[in-house]
Amino acid sequence: MYQLKHWKGLKFPDIYIVRFFFKYVLKQNLDVKRVLELGCGSGNNLYLFNIYDFEVQGIDISEENIKNAIFNFSKVLKASPQTYHFLQHDITKLDFLQKVKTPNDILLLPNIVYYLSKKDFEKILRNINKILTSNGLFFIRFRSPRDGRNLCRESLNGVQILKTSKTGEFNTIQTFYEEFEMVELLKKYLNISDFKVFHVYEEVETLNGKVFNSDIVIWGKYNL
Ligand SMILES: C[S@@+](CC[C@H](N)C(=O)[O-])C[C@H]1O[C@@H](n2cnc3c(N)ncnc32)[C@H](O)[C@@H]1O
Repeated sequence: MYQLKHWKGLKFPDIYIVRFFFKYVLKQNLDVKRVLELGCGSGNNLYLFNIYDFEVQGIDISEENIKNAIFNFSKVLKASPQTYHFLQHDITKLDFLQKVKTPNDILLLPNIVYYLSKKDFEKILRNINKILTSNGLFFIRFRSPRDGRNLCRESLNGVQILKTSKTGEFNTIQTFYEEFEMVELLKKYLNISDFKVFHVYEEVETLNGKVFNSDIVIWGKYNL
């Protein structure tokens, strides 16, 4: 008999996802109640939606994360199989759009955009309307240039790469956005409205000591 303590992979949800869910999502009248998270990890954010009867979909590039997510939902949460779908896929390859259930009326992008080049992120935004309802909700959490990692980035062919191993992200893409840049992109591709912006400054613990995080969270409505 599996219990919560048997949850595999990242165990806790993003605190701003929790706030988004209770302060915003639950107050809306949604027709479809199907939520899609890009870069879903172990399902650590999606389980909150699932236990409140949303159908959840998660995509992640990591095979291990997807295996963990399926284990967590089937064995630990004992969720009904029709209520969750996990797909191992690189979201920069747009054929994932043909592999997910549609339409979705909540789009979650928490802590994923910094691993994508600006070009790839914009490509995804340009096409994401194909799998969304015409009106729905979105959540995004991304890093700003005030993040401590900013000092350890190097440009390679126009893409910023992290050159420290302190956070376990050595050689990963680290793309940061100012609030106005992101709002502009989201207005252009998702026609966002009724949105709120939160600037999050915090010290977080990593395996190799503390790191200064500077994130920006935006949530609200999209209207396609
Ligand atoms: C920092 S974790 C965030 C996990 C979860 N969204 C959260 O907020 O706790 C970033 C996740 O994005 C996934 N990821 C990174 N690049 C990706 C890509 N190109 N396609 C799909 N998933 C990707 C990683 O495997 C990882 O699980």
